Amino acid sequence: MIQKYRFGTPFPTESVVKELEITAGTLPYLTVSEGDSLSFSYRMDADDAVYGLGQNVRGINKRGWLYRSKNCDEPSHTEEKNSLYATHNFLIVSGKHRTFGLFLDYSGIVSFDVGYTHLDTLVITPEDGNLDLYLIEEDSLLAIVKSFRGLIGKSYIPPKWAFGLSQSRWGYASEQDVREVARRYHENHLPLDSICLDIDYMERYKDFTVNQETFPDLPKLADDLKKEGIRLVPIIDAGVKIEEGYDVYEEGVREGYFCKRADGSNFVAGVWPGRVHFPDFLQPKARKWFGEKYQRLIDQGIEGFWNDMNEPSIFYSEEHLNEVFDEIDELKKQELDIDSFFHFQSIVSGINNNESDYRRFYHNVNGKMVRHDAIHNLYGYNMTRAAGESFLTRYPDKRLLIYSRSSCIGMHRYAGIWCGDNNSWWSHILLALQMMPSLNMVGILFCGSDIGGFLMNTTEDLSLRWHALGVFTPLMRNHSSRGTREQEPYQFDNIEMFRRVISVRYALLPYLYSEFMKAARNDGMYAMPLSFIYPEDPLACDVEDQMMIGESIMIAPVYRQNAAGRAVYLPERMKLYRFRGAESVTSEILEAGMHYLPVALDEVIFFVRPNHLVPCCKGADCVADLDESTLSLLGFVETEASYTLYHDDGFSREYDNPANFTTLTLSADGTKTASDDRITLL
Ligand code: NOJ
Repeated sequence: MIQKYRFGTPFPTESVVKELEITAGTLPYLTVSEGDSLSFSYRMDADDAVYGLGQNVRGINKRGWLYRSKNCDEPSHTEEKNSLYATHNFLIVSGKHRTFGLFLDYSGIVSFDVGYTHLDTLVITPEDGNLDLYLIEEDSLLAIVKSFRGLIGKSYIPPKWAFGLSQSRWGYASEQDVREVARRYHENHLPLDSICLDIDYMERYKDFTVNQETFPDLPKLADDLKKEGIRLVPIIDAGVKIEEGYDVYEEGVREGYFCKRADGSNFVAGVWPGRVHFPDFLQPKARKWFGEKYQRLIDQGIEGFWNDMNEPSIFYSEEHLNEVFDEIDELKKQELDIDSFFHFQSIVSGINNNESDYRRFYHNVNGKMVRHDAIHNLYGYNMTRAAGESFLTRYPDKRLLIYSRSSCIGMHRYAGIWCGDNNSWWSHILLALQMMPSLNMVGILFCGSDIGGFLMNTTEDLSLRWHALGVFTPLMRNHSSRGTREQEPYQFDNIEMFRRVISVRYALLPYLYSEFMKAARNDGMYAMPLSFIYPEDPLACDVEDQMMIGESIMIAPVYRQNAAGRAVYLPERMKLYRFRGAESVTSEILEAGMHYLPVALDEVIFFVRPNHLVPCCKGADCVADLDESTLSLLGFVETEASYTLYHDDGFSREYDNPANFTTLTLSADGTKTASDDRITLL
């Protein structure tokens, strides 16, 4: 059951798709304080857990920290941070006495003090008093999520090729560089489905342009690679370069599609292209205009994109830079001492994404000028929505790939995300795992972290362990920053180890894709904390480094440097599968409880629940080459197990076609059946 409470006059975020009646009564359980500022508080029991808040730092249970919904370009995902790139104002308080979900449909900044000021108190404080609050009560955690997802609409589904491995690096500067990546992948028999083009492919970082010197024939490049099963996935940035003769800039100025200063002039920010204007994605017309520009690249053979810098990231504004220079001039007039040094350091280090810059520009919302900071958290969502809406209009029967850096609830209907600029740190493997379920709760099913780590130099063992987690993340993308150690699998000594790990992804795709699709269609979760499946088991509820992936399996990735294996908690008897490459599989049944399991660097392990099945196939070099007409069934069958396999053509949007569903069964005596005679079971 969902109840909607209204406070003040909320800004229409368009996060929700279902109109509900506003509840007249008072909000139960929470104490509402409506004095100077609105806040909601709740006294938590000692063992209540708090789940949700989407993309954020720290663990699965969010208790013990202060989170702030304020989208920011935050390249350092360390524990002391309060915000990352997204606003996902949904949480679940899960306790023995009371369990409920809360969603704040709100465009401003919200702080979630989850036992930070007082261990036992949750305090939610929006910036002002204008919001809709939804209280969701159901009889299980998964049911709360499902109910919430019914409110916000179905999740985005990418084409199937997007589930293959993607290779990316900021620094593939030319067609030769890109061809070389494809060549070396093939030469080393490493499967690959896409190569991302970072900003280097553009002409002076201008959106929807291609540098003709370094990429002289993009259509041919895209076509040649597609014949090898590899798609190109170019980046699009939020800022439009200010340059006479650049049509996107000129059209945007002419039509009034850019964000304005208070005096009506177009706001100017400094980002990669230099001086840019920001499209006013809150205007439907501007969204349509920008969204249609993607067609220029689609016409050149492109089928997927990633949207970046859309918090929006602002390196500087000229107004603020001048203020900084003036402040420094003032500082220089004083006697220079240690205080001057710290003062100087703080003003200079605060130039990027400075709060004052977000107060310098306005959006035209139905003819009314709305200052950016009031809707800041909706910006990335609406940039990506521009693309998503255009794809839906132009390609009603075909899926295109799109994922974004910044997001807000609502964007999950149009795109996935990648988790932004992580580091090549062991702790960030764990963080990548822990972010997944809270993203799934808010409908972002297609997600993944930069495998190997984006910033800093990676190492071979870290990269291998990260790929082993990546086998299970819907987006499996290796991406790194320019200036860091090159980290394509073929850069390391033991390429065959990477081949073994990556090939498991392709072998498991029948199961992984099927579970993803079922989660998307049923408003379910693809990645679930153990507590969602075993809520009565206190040890399972305490586990923060294992995850249920779909209905049949649990994973336990290794994320510690030099670890030869790891401790794993099994909430019930399970069957351990060890893959060393797609062809080499062993299994053993383990009793419930704690186990220490050695895991080699090139091994992928997972655990199958009793009477559950995992359909898999032989590996291939790309998704299109997978032979899914012949499947093997992995399983832990005590009596009989059946599995609903979802399989489709991978690109059309006919998700509910009954022909996409096959029932597979396996009995304890080894009898196997498939309800679809197009599938042979081995
Ligand atoms: C920031 C993005 O997060 C990163 O992935 C990308 O490589 C750089 N921008 C350069 O475009």
